[in-house]
Amino acid sequence: MATYRIAVLPGDGIGQEVTPEAVRVLKAVGKGAGVGFEFEPALVGGAAIDATGHPLAPGTLDLCRRSHAILFGAVGGPKWDTVAHERRPERGLLALRKELDLYANLRPAKCFPMLVDASPLKRSVVEGTDLMVIRELTGGLYFGEPRGLERLVDGGARAVNTMVYTSREIERIARTAFEVARKRRKRLASVDKANVLVVSQLWREVVTRVARDYPDVTLEHVLVDNCAMALVHRPSRFDTIVTENTFGDILSDEAAILAGSMGMLPSASLGGSVALYEPVHGTAPDIAGKGIANPIAAILSTAMLLRYTLSLEKDADRVERAVLRVLEQGHRTADIAGPGARTVGTKEMADLIVREVEDQY
Ligand code: IPM
Ligand code: MG
Repeated sequence: MATYRIAVLPGDGIGQEVTPEAVRVLKAVGKGAGVGFEFEPALVGGAAIDATGHPLAPGTLDLCRRSHAILFGAVGGPKWDTVAHERRPERGLLALRKELDLYANLRPAKCFPMLVDASPLKRSVVEGTDLMVIRELTGGLYFGEPRGLERLVDGGARAVNTMVYTSREIERIARTAFEVARKRRKRLASVDKANVLVVSQLWREVVTRVARDYPDVTLEHVLVDNCAMALVHRPSRFDTIVTENTFGDILSDEAAILAGSMGMLPSASLGGSVALYEPVHGTAPDIAGKGIANPIAAILSTAMLLRYTLSLEKDADRVERAVLRVLEQGHRTADIAGPGARTVGTKEMADLIVREVEDQY
């Protein structure tokens, strides 16, 4: 029996509530498909700061390197808002991305028909939304040098971040994007700010060059401000979107609203030898500890793990189908329930999905 080691990094806030539910779904898949999973927990984020003083606990990176895949929850929270910048919980995640060279972040945003009315946006806008945001994850403003804060003698201060990309970094994410678009509806929108930023001019030049190798994919260049507007105006015009780190961070949160709720969006971070799977939603301190968080984003992230790391396409489909069935039956967590609707908690939602997974074997 094939056995896979999965590093489990729940992190903080609702990450600690939804990640164990995702693990249960994988266990059900393992049982049904005859695949062995070894789950190894490790600390990251605020939880790691509390236990070890460092947002990426010693040993966590090592474990990740030794694993077939990483199941990640979320990091951060008000408790650590005052710690020094370089020690914030978020640094744990950023270090993982950089150390493991996870440069390609795939964030699918699909509006399921039964959730059309869960989005605060009009039905006529969100209906039919099915897009994939591909965010460059290890470059740009997040990691560029120089960066830092300088106190000036006049009592003022000066802070710097640098948006920097090499043609090599742009080319590899562009290739990922064209490959993904090719398997979807063969339309790729490359998002930049080429009317202002030199970095974006290089971005556009490289993406245009790479496009020659993918004549079957239709490429368009969209300015980021225009894209932000188009996403809430006519999202169905997009299929695959590729963009740099910061733009992708912002646009993928916006895209989440098209899918009804942040609680619905999974993600995969690929590139290096081990991939990381994480819900897009973050720690949600306002609802943490209440048992009401939506586990679907974390569960759909396991479907991405099955598909992209283990090539267990059919099992990935089973997980996605289980989620759809439970939603079709009308079950809702609070974030996707209309006013007055009966809601289920995190555990109950996961129970229902696990049962639907089991039923398919
Ligand atoms: C995300 C998050 C992270 C980011 C934070 C937690 C560092 O917002 O994954 O989108 O900015 O990349
Ligand atoms: Mg974000």
